[in-house]
Amino acid sequence: MIDPAEQALAFTQEQPADADAIEALLDHAFGPARFVKSSERVREFAEFRPEMSFCAWDQGRLVGSVRMWKVHVGGTPAIFLGPLAVRAEGRKFGTGGELVARACAAARAAGYPVLLVGDEPYFGRFGFAAAPCKGVRMPGPVDQRRVLACGADVLAGPVTA
Ligand SMILES: CC(C)(COP(=O)(O)OP(=O)(O)OC[C@H]1O[C@@H](n2cnc3c(N)ncnc32)[C@H](O)[C@@H]1OP(=O)(O)O)[C@@H](O)C(=O)NCCC(=O)NCCS
Repeated sequence: MIDPAEQALAFTQEQPADADAIEALLDHAFGPARFVKSSERVREFAEFRPEMSFCAWDQGRLVGSVRMWKVHVGGTPAIFLGPLAVRAEGRKFGTGGELVARACAAARAAGYPVLLVGDEPYFGRFGFAAAPCKGVRMPGPVDQRRVLACGADVLAGPVTA
């Protein structure tokens, strides 16, 4: 159990050696259903950007992860965010928010808008909205209300490599 009073997490850019711990965290957070999501189709063709992807560590144990991927949306370069996951016992301490903030700051510094599929009630607090994304076409079925962007007035067209 993570004690919030003693929680002093370390945040690092993702390294190749982190991959196994991240896979275990994603299995824990999403289960096998994660592989059938349309977001997973994006990750199959997108270019992984480790320098914008972050891990949260509690005394050497991975408690959170966010990954970022370079895509184009109708020809506009953008970053696709996801998956984002925090271990169940480490939630509601702001770790997910810190991961999103760091990843989005890195994308913004590099000049990219950020796209994701997720819940607007959660991601809205970080500036994400569905309104700019009405014309975004994901490579698979998706609830269009969950396609969210930050840092762009409008994104439209197919999501491609
Ligand atoms: C979503 C998730 C990453 C948030 O991590 P976290 O470290 O708890 O995030 P934060 O501490 O920054 O924020 C917690 C707040 O967000 C809220 N929240 C979490 N998921 C939410 C959702 N889907 N919709 C609305 N609010 C949500 C929590 O209730 C909490 O609210 P509070 O601040 O009023 O208590 C974590 O719950 C998780 O791993 N969930 C399973 C995987 C997932 O759904 N990932 C996101 C889709 S890509």
